Formats: sequence, structure tokens, C-alpha cells
Amino acid sequence: MANILLISLLPLSVLYLCIFYLRARSAHQRRLVLDSLSLPSSTKAFAFFHPYCNAGGGGERVLWTAIAYIQRTHPDLLCVVYTGDTSATKSSILEKIESRFSITLSPATLHFVFLTRRKLVEDSTYPHFTLIGQSLGSVGLALEALSLFVPDAYIDTMGYAFTLPLVRLLGIPAGAYVHYPTVSPPMIARAAAHPAKRVYYHAFMLLYALALRRARVLMVNSSWTKTHVDAVLAYPPFGGRWGVVRSRVVYPACDTREMARLPLTLGGRGRMVLSIAQFRPEKEHAKQVRALYVLLKEYPEYTEQGIRLVMIGGCRNAEDEARVEVLRKLARELSVEAHVEFVLNAPYPDMLAWLGRASVGLNTMLDEHFGINVVEFMAAGVIPIAHASGGPLEDIVVKFQGQPTGYHAKTPEEFASRIHEALTLSPEEDLAIRQRARTWAVQRFSEAEFEAAWEASEWWSKLLA
Ligand SMILES: *[C@@H]1O[C@H](CO)[C@@H](O)[C@H](O)[C@H]1NC(C)=O
Repeated sequence: MANILLISLLPLSVLYLCIFYLRARSAHQRRLVLDSLSLPSSTKAFAFFHPYCNAGGGGERVLWTAIAYIQRTHPDLLCVVYTGDTSATKSSILEKIESRFSITLSPATLHFVFLTRRKLVEDSTYPHFTLIGQSLGSVGLALEALSLFVPDAYIDTMGYAFTLPLVRLLGIPAGAYVHYPTVSPPMIARAAAHPAKRVYYHAFMLLYALALRRARVLMVNSSWTKTHVDAVLAYPPFGGRWGVVRSRVVYPACDTREMARLPLTLGGRGRMVLSIAQFRPEKEHAKQVRALYVLLKEYPEYTEQGIRLVMIGGCRNAEDEARVEVLRKLARELSVEAHVEFVLNAPYPDMLAWLGRASVGLNTMLDEHFGINVVEFMAAGVIPIAHASGGPLEDIVVKFQGQPTGYHAKTPEEFASRIHEALTLSPEEDLAIRQRARTWAVQRFSEAEFEAAWEASEWWSKLLA
């Protein structure tokens, strides 16, 4: 009995020794960092755990937008980024942020802590039990992070919730910005048919819920993510009881500057229906071809008017190409091929040009979490017709000033009638809806809106004051 007790206490003691050790050396390390930046010793440090900070994706835009805002509003705060991009340097990262996102950060109050053990969170490291493996791995990586620098406040911006309890053990207030829940009840219901798998997932979710509850500030990137994260937080045995953290939607800022410069009026915009989506199965391109078929059948006038469906999309590999082939074949079978055009892997300026020429934009994916392409349609002045589900329904194509900003549909028939409706608006209505859609999208997903929502999370008072 005593042995068992000892064995179970051992890991705990080791952990506490680690923490003791980390605390003891932290002051010295901090002094070195502050001195190297010529900052006063009273400077507080706010750390972001973002091991892939140099990836240049949507998650990174969120990170840099947040840091730019903090640097502007709290110039005396030191922002620290834990990253595993060991082949990069501070200046090369800053240059990339500038060129990729047009975000300028001040090097004076920004410090990078380079982690050498990023392999711990790579999924290739764990061929089996990937979820548990990566989660434990993230704790290991966070230990490395904290052994190099102990901050005053910590936020995980890459979905490594299991680092939160560790950080809290050190007495550091922690928060998280969640792009995507690691696991959630609806996901389990769908994914795990096998009983053993279910048990594994449920056990994992229990731990995930416990970890997330250690966050004092919890931001999520969309309503979809909020639904899932809230389901985790309310996961039974806890119900809504202990743990008071509430998740808050903070939409990422989208760069709509170029799109919003395109002319709104119909001059130059023809009978053109645009689709922008990678050629992946879940995007349901076939539905767009079918909608065109129904449209041409119901309203033959569009044949004479030479309506076009232009499908722009990334084609990454042979599977994607095969899918495009299948779509071409479908168009031939339905005898609409003369009206369908594929544009593969178009560079950004070409995509902008298409956005400036189209009248209507389609998004047919079921339960798309967000749908940045829909935001881009709207900013570009293209009337969106999006699937009536997920982000496009809840977050994006919603009423603005009590008026619609676009259309929703589900079946090819519905898509066809919405296209017809959109193409037969009176010139006044047409301009008004484009105007509304643009104003809404640009404003809703702007940096100002992002910053206001970040501010409303009370991050300062909850994490640093
Ligand atoms: C939230 O993050 C997920 C995962 O990166 C992404 O698929 C989704 O589009 C994001 N939502 C928004 C609103 O950007």
C-alpha cells in the first residue's frame, strides 16, 4: 500500500522539483532578456505559445495582429513568442510578417524564445494514440519553453490546451485562443463508431475539458468553434458547475483591402457565377455544376446570355486533378460544359481580377467552419450564395442593418433559384445589396473589430493586472 502511494507520488514530486527549479532560474533569465532589449527590470512579459509561428497561415495572422495591437496599446509590455522555428531568426521572422501580412511589429518589445524540441508535437512522432501523444508532447515542449523563460502571463494560440495546467502550476495566469477544438462531443459522436475508440475519446475529452478549464481567458475564432468548445467545457461530470471560464468569439481579421477596392457597380461584371475553393471533396463542386444545369433548364434565357460558371481553385495533387476531371465529365454529361470554366492554381492577382468581374459567388460546402472565400466575395462586391449551414449561415451572410447581405441555399434547385434571384434584382437593389455585403464584411472582419473583441475578453485585468 505504502509502495503504491509512493509510486503515485513520485511523478508529482518530480513535477514540483521541476517547478521549483524553473522558478529559481527564471529571474536570472529574465534579466538577461530585458537587458538585451534595454528594457527596465519591472517590465512585464506576456508570452504566446505558438511553436509554428513562422508558418504564414491564418492562425499566424491572428497571432501577429494581436501582438501588433498589444504593442500599440501597451508599449511597456514585453511580448514573448515561444517558437520552434529554429532555422529562422528574429529579423527574418519580422520580415516575413511584414511581407506576408503587411503587419509591422516593433522589435523593441518583442522577444522570441526558440524551442528545439518541436518534434514533440508533430503528429508524425506518434503513429498511434496521436491525440494523447501530441498532448503530452506539448507539455514537454512547454516545459522546455518555461525552462528558457518564465513569463508573467501566458496564452496558447495554437490549441495546446494541455500546456495550460502546467503553466498554472507555476502560478502564471493563462489563457487560450482556440481555432479548432482538439476534440468535442459532436466530433466523437461522428468519428468514433468503435466502442474502444469511444472510450479512448471520452477519456481524452475529460482531460481536455479539465485542461481548458485552467484558462482564465478563452477566446475562440468563430461561432462553430464556440459551440464545440462550450460543449467540452460543459462535459459531464462537470456540467456547468465548477470552472467559470466563458468562451468568447473573437473573429480573426481578414485582409480585405485589395478586394474592397474593386468597383461595386455592374459595369464590367457580366453574367458570371464564381466559385473559389480548393478542389477537395467536402467543397461539393458537383453541386455547383448541377445548379447551373437546373438554372439553364428552368431559365433558357441564360443560355443566350452566355452565363458562365467559373471555378477557381487550388489543385494540390493527383487526387485533386482527378476530381477536376470528374467535374468536367459531369458538365459534359449535363451538356453545360460550354458554360463552365476551370481555373486551377491561379495567382492572387488573377483571383482578384475574377472577383472584379463576377456578379455572384457560390459556396456549397456543408458545415464550413468559417468560409473566408465568402468574406472575400462580399468584400469584392460579389453577391454571395452560400450553403445554409456553418460559418456562412451563422457568422458571415447574415442581416446587416436589418437587410440581407446575400443568399443561402442547400440543394442544386435552391442554388439555381437564388442565382436567378440575384441576377434579376433591380439596379438599385443590386447595388444596395453589394454595398451592404461589402460594408458588413470589411467592418465585421476588420482589425478594429478583432481588437475590440480582444479587448472585451478583459485579457489585461484577468492575466496581467
Ligand atoms: C478557425 O480556425 C480553423 C482552424 O484553423 C479554420 O478552419 C477556420 O476557418 C477558422 N475560422 C475563422 C473564423 O477564421
